[in-house]
Amino acid sequence: MSGPSDFDGPLFPRDRGVHPPALHPPYKSSIARSPRLAPVSLDSTLSETTGPVFGPETIGALDADLILNFARPGEMALGERIVVRGRVLDENGQPVPHTLVEVWQANAGGRYRHRNEGYLAPLDPNFGGCGRCMTDAAGWYRFRTVKPGPYPWPNGVNDWRPAHVHFSVFGSGFGQRLITQMYFEGDPHIPLCPIVRSIPSDEAIERLTARLDMRHTIPMDARAYRFDIVLRGRRATLFENRMEGT
Ligand SMILES: [Fe+2]
Repeated sequence: MSGPSDFDGPLFPRDRGVHPPALHPPYKSSIARSPRLAPVSLDSTLSETTGPVFGPETIGALDADLILNFARPGEMALGERIVVRGRVLDENGQPVPHTLVEVWQANAGGRYRHRNEGYLAPLDPNFGGCGRCMTDAAGWYRFRTVKPGPYPWPNGVNDWRPAHVHFSVFGSGFGQRLITQMYFEGDPHIPLCPIVRSIPSDEAIERLTARLDMRHTIPMDARAYRFDIVLRGRRATLFENRMEGT
């Protein structure tokens, strides 16, 4: 089994071939956010490669349960009850154990608990919208939550985000943190979304789409969705040479 020491080493660049371009004008914010100059390669700093350091004791009992972790005693978040589970795997299909997975999402009506949120859908007093857990020895993570609602956003005259859950995965250092979004199988907003459409590969979009997983659905309680996260670079110490561009 892999131990934390296997993950130390130079950072591994992502495959830009399947990433959206930084500039994608139908996604209007990308116009101002995209760089005008060529990127500059910098060496990683010590703090980027050696932290954060924490263990399972950091995680609270309800941290992975978004139905209860913000709810008043005896109450629960409103919405379609779901379980989201999957594995964090490296580029060789090996599990990434004991890594922090964080999620955040809108409530069942499509509204975030955030001071800059402007959508008129109501806040749910029992739903905060954040959770976290550590993957187990086989790379599994699991959250219980409510299915987030789609929401409108100021881009074109009538753009709606598909229902989605934001994910963050930490490796053994801040410089390895990856952030992505998970969509739900069958959502008709997926192919309409200007952010999703910035991804140049239908196959890559499929990899961001969770599948209904009836085998792990809890009867009379919650449906389950399966979402695996596959990383690169987790075994970079296998290379003896220094990778170009890191
Ligand atoms: Fe969002």
